Amino acid sequence: MKIQEAKYVMSNSDYLKCPEPDIPEYAFIGRSNVGKSSLINMLVDKKSLAKTSQQPGKTQLINHFIINQAWYLVDLPGYGYAKVSKAEREKWETMISDYLYNRENLVCTFVLVDIRHSALATDLEFMSALGEAGIPFHIIFTKADKLKAYQIANQVEAYKLKLAEIWEEIPPLFVTSSEKNEGRDPILDTIEAYNESFSKKA
Ligand code: GTP
Ligand code: MG
Repeated sequence: MKIQEAKYVMSNSDYLKCPEPDIPEYAFIGRSNVGKSSLINMLVDKKSLAKTSQQPGKTQLINHFIINQAWYLVDLPGYGYAKVSKAEREKWETMISDYLYNRENLVCTFVLVDIRHSALATDLEFMSALGEAGIPFHIIFTKADKLKAYQIANQVEAYKLKLAEIWEEIPPLFVTSSEKNEGRDPILDTIEAYNESFSKKA
């Protein structure tokens, strides 16, 4: 799929104030600093559409971007960020789960995990909660430029084994590097296929 246009729409703390849910939507979620905002910029080929930072906790709201005037990409705050107060963290977590569990046009979510880490309980628990709520998700490994090819293959295999302990069917996995601009097309192709089935259903 070609990205002709990518525009910022609005930021909200309340999913009820998000744009009309009349076109397909895809949300990016994962631990703070995993590279959600960077990945969105890589997908749409615009360096600073979504705000990124070396410091965790940069994205604090539900941010909508409209792509090709036809679908939304949503940048969400990260979970598991230890340096904010417990009350603040809980506020974000409620904001994220209210959005994920109630947003009508959310077609699927992409859960991002840092390829350098072995499967973390917070991520696996988050995925289980999505599964229980019936929200389809795909897994995107980020920061692949930090490892060698054989290490990437090992990490993906180890992650698959871990997932197989929980899931009968393993969700699709993507390996990316926003730094090196790698892994873009398979994600955009997946979104394109979903967009087509969304318009058939409408
Ligand atoms: P929060 O909004 O704070 O939850 O973070 P985020 O998940 O949106 O991460 P963000 O995109 O802001 O990136 C965090 C840091 O990781 C930045 O310093 C990025 O430059 C870096 N980063 C993101 N993706 C990659 C990647 O593919 N490779 C490398 N080497 N660094 C990356
Ligand atoms: Mg961010």
